[in-house]
Amino acid sequence: PRVAVIVVAAGSGTRLQAGAPKAFVGLDAQTILHHCLRGVFDARSAQVVIVAPEERVGEALADAQDAAGERRDLVSVVAGGRTRQESVAAGLAAVWPDVEIVLVHDAARALAPAALIDRVVAAVERTGWGVVPVLPVVDTIKQVEGETVTAVVDRSQLAAAQTPQGFRRDVLGAAYRVADTEYTDDSALVAAAGHPIATVTGDQRAFKITTPDDLERARSLIGAPRA
Ligand code: C5P
Repeated sequence: PRVAVIVVAAGSGTRLQAGAPKAFVGLDAQTILHHCLRGVFDARSAQVVIVAPEERVGEALADAQDAAGERRDLVSVVAGGRTRQESVAAGLAAVWPDVEIVLVHDAARALAPAALIDRVVAAVERTGWGVVPVLPVVDTIKQVEGETVTAVVDRSQLAAAQTPQGFRRDVLGAAYRVADTEYTDDSALVAAAGHPIATVTGDQRAFKITTPDDLERARSLIGAPRA
């Protein structure tokens, strides 16, 4: 089946304090978006839809075509929305008609390897379910209200969700059509529409760059000089 990967890169990156929308911040000579797309173009995909801030669509297209090399015909770029969910919906509207499996991936997970992307695609093919990559939770988690601990949570029943998350195209499209609130990720939105979700093993390198510390970690992982 033909696979499209929607890479959402339309966030403002306020928490990163790097002076530009997050996906357009440099890790080394290349941006976060560029690094993310290297993994995507090394994976099995027929179309790559990048969702960028409206004023950065041209810049995203140039960066994506550079990262794509010989696969530049696969690239589409569209403008995003106010929330991540609106940005995914915008990307979904640009997916080609013959695509059967859609992955949604955060540009901010710049170092997610191609093997992780292919693992998600394989699991969607095998099960027909929504697929989310997860890692065990390493910290002990508390339920709190204000400054009071209100419950203990059994860590063995928890997992941290990553992207890319993969879905049958018809399932994801139908779930987005009926979504009436904001969900924190696509697998929650698809589950709310009544579809089963499976997990595959995530990857430490697929961590999301959110804070200045995360940016330092990504830079040191790729051997970039410290900013
Ligand atoms: O802000 P956060 O790190 O949770 O965003 C996750 C991903 O969603 C990022 O890659 C970001 O660019 C994207 N996003 C988006 N449109 C928004 C908000 C976030 O594409 N309005």
